[in-house]
Amino acid sequence: MVAVILDCDPGHDDALAILLAAADPSLDLLAITTVAGNQTLDKCTLNARRVCTVAGITGVPIAAGADRPLRRPRRVAAHIHGESGLDGPAFGEPTVGVSDEPAVELMRGLLLDRPEPVTLVPTGPLTNIATLLDRYPEVREGIAEIVLMGGSTGRGNTSPYAEFNIAVDPEAAEIVFGSGLDVTMVGLNATHQALVTPDVVARIRAVGTDVADVCADLMTFYAAAYERVYGLPGPPLHDPMAVARVIDRSVVGCVPAPVRVETAGTYTSGATAVDLHHVTGEPDNALVAVDVDVRRYFDLVVEAVTRVGLTQR
Ligand code: BDR
Ligand code: CA
Repeated sequence: MVAVILDCDPGHDDALAILLAAADPSLDLLAITTVAGNQTLDKCTLNARRVCTVAGITGVPIAAGADRPLRRPRRVAAHIHGESGLDGPAFGEPTVGVSDEPAVELMRGLLLDRPEPVTLVPTGPLTNIATLLDRYPEVREGIAEIVLMGGSTGRGNTSPYAEFNIAVDPEAAEIVFGSGLDVTMVGLNATHQALVTPDVVARIRAVGTDVADVCADLMTFYAAAYERVYGLPGPPLHDPMAVARVIDRSVVGCVPAPVRVETAGTYTSGATAVDLHHVTGEPDNALVAVDVDVRRYFDLVVEAVTRVGLTQR
């Protein structure tokens, strides 16, 4: 089993990333850490607790992290994820609690304690991960790799060239891509290959459990937002794709490339400059997702929804 820590900002697609990371038999989910992104930190942390409660995920610590980017004002994505960050289904009061330890301290403890290195899977702004690397350089040896959802080899979704997770905290992203650790970038060019069209929502609902209904309701809200904002026939299922890459490398094919983060740029702040053709002569510092086995990807997600439903009974 691969030991992973999921650092997220739930978020509709983060919610399914949590389910996939918790339910897939090849992963050992050590912790869920939260960061301000799609909504404020308090809302994202509450949402992580809601998802774990609905899915019966107990025994995985949830720890709250940064409530704002390293150096910039906070910005949220209420136009996509709603005022709660997880609009759509009705959630009751969560029974899963939150750790007393801050996210970065919890991660440090896990990374130093484990005999085997741990894979970090960030699916929100990279504030927590950058803070961890900066504050506790001794954890580096405990990190197997960082497989993140963020960036793009082409156009963005938050500005013409910037993807949301990188746009929110480009300085944090610069630290992560410049860390010298093994970094994999699963960006929009990959995630936009996997749209949650109505047939995918129907597959999830057909699982026939309470948690499947919640997931289908989440995807229905998320689809309406993407249709309204971007005119897409289905929303890209971004975040679980980083988890899927850790589960099975053949689902998300990658190529090595130099990736630089634009931290200035009048129109391009937060863009990832990915030199796929190696025209700059810069050294490679990341693997970049380019090919997605979409059918297998959605199979993994539906299998995970099915599995958490079974453990509920
Ligand atoms: C990313 O931004 C967030 O809105 C999603 O949860 C995903 O992590 C996509 O740009
Ligand atoms: Ca996210």
